[in-house]
Formats: sequence, structure tokens, C-alpha cells
Amino acid sequence: MKSFHLGKDTARLAVLQRSEMISPTLKKIRKLFGRYLFTNFFSKNFIDTQNISKKYCEIMNNELYTFNNYLNNDLNILSIGSGIGGLEVLINANFKGSKFTFIEKNYISKKVKYGWDNKNFEAYNNIKLLEKFLIENGINNQDFDIFDFDYDVLPKRKFDLITSLYSLDYHYDFSFYSEYLKKICSDETIIIFDTIRAEHFKNVFQNVDIIKEDNNTVHKSKRIVCKKFK
Ligand SMILES: C[S@@+](CC[C@H](N)C(=O)[O-])C[C@H]1O[C@@H](n2cnc3c(N)ncnc32)[C@H](O)[C@@H]1O
Repeated sequence: MKSFHLGKDTARLAVLQRSEMISPTLKKIRKLFGRYLFTNFFSKNFIDTQNISKKYCEIMNNELYTFNNYLNNDLNILSIGSGIGGLEVLINANFKGSKFTFIEKNYISKKVKYGWDNKNFEAYNNIKLLEKFLIENGINNQDFDIFDFDYDVLPKRKFDLITSLYSLDYHYDFSFYSEYLKKICSDETIIIFDTIRAEHFKNVFQNVDIIKEDNNTVHKSKRIVCKKFK
């Protein structure tokens, strides 16, 4: 897959979720006019949807590559803070028979900042647009469920693979999910996420491997693969 089907609204979300896609001109505009106008006006009206579609697909193909050793057919996958779901669309296109569960927030902060958020108030998604993107890019309706973190009862089944790219323990503390994750992980469940404190997770899980390091993102972070809660 070389590009995604992306409408203007969804392209805007992708730009808010992946700040590396903000063009130099838009970055200047953000500096000049501030984050409120950037989030609510410029990100809606000054983006090139086609270009974003290609860029987002390229970024997600690179992310998929980091997951290769952990992917297979017929997986039960949970994605926490998936954004619009480009990674899951690519997994679906490359592997057969997987079921996807998404947990996301259903609003866009008035003034998107990309820091550490103690209270976990920051969000940049819209569940209807996430659903639209998944269907338009080939995931069948019956192969995914979406849960709103703030309002829904979260699913209790066990998952094979849990992913959270630049969300859990990157923008907000792992503790928001730790008790829940203990319930839905078997000893075989693999959890992959980006964290700003990889060493800490050696106290939490029996197995922790680092598969990627990022020094150019909002925070310096590491992508870790974890198995078996201690
Ligand atoms: C920086 S974006 C990353 C999106 C996507 N994973 C990617 O790599 O493109 C962080 C995402 O986490 C979501 N988020 C924030 N708090 C969350 C929570 N408690 N549970 C699930 N998602 C959350 C935001 O709405 C946003 O879509």
C-alpha cells in the first residue's frame, strides 16, 4: 500500500497525531499565531490531503517494519491510542484474519500540546472518523470494535498483541492502564509501546526488549516489547 484513502477531516487528525507531518510553513504559522488557531483553523484549512495521505502511509509502513517479528495471521490485537489507525490498516492488508480492538478518546483538545500530560486530558481523535478511515481502507466492519476510553466499559477478553504508539507512557502515565492491562494479558500476550522510561518497565514485566529508539520526537523515547507482568 503506497497511500491511504483520506478525507480532509481525517488528514487533519493525522497531522495533529503525527506532528512530524506538520510542514515547515505550518510550523511557522503555529509559532506566529499560536496553538489555539493552529489546532482550530490552520490545521483544518491549510493542509494538502494527498500529500498527507502519502506521508502518513510511508510513516506507518516504517512503523509496521518495527513490528514484523511480532505479527502473524489471526491475531487478536488491541490498539491503545491508535490515532486514525494507519498501522492497523497495514497489518490488516499484510496479514489475514486478525481482529482489531481500539481504545481511543473522542475529542480534540482546544489547544493541542505534545507534552507529558499528568491528568491525561489531551486528546486528538474522533471515533466516527476513525471508523470511517478503517472501513475506507479495507478493514471489515465485523473485524473491529472501538471503545471510548472516557465513557465505555472496556473489553475484558485476552489479547495476543497490545500496541500503543506514542500514546501510553509517552503522553500519559502507564498507571492509567496498568490494572486493566493485568486483566486482559495472558502470559503469552505481547505489549509494544513507546515510553520515556524504558528501564522502569524491567520492574513491571518479566521480559522487556527495546526495539526502537527515538531521539528526535517530542520526548526522547524507546519502543519496548514486554511480556508477563511480574
Ligand atoms: C500522539 S497520538 C499517536 C497516535 C498514533 N498511535 C500514531 O502513532 O500515529 C496519541 C493518541 O493517543 C490518544 N489518547 C490520549 N489519551 C488516551 C487514552 N487514555 N486512551 C487511549 N488513547 C488516548 C490521543 O487521542 C491520540 O490519538
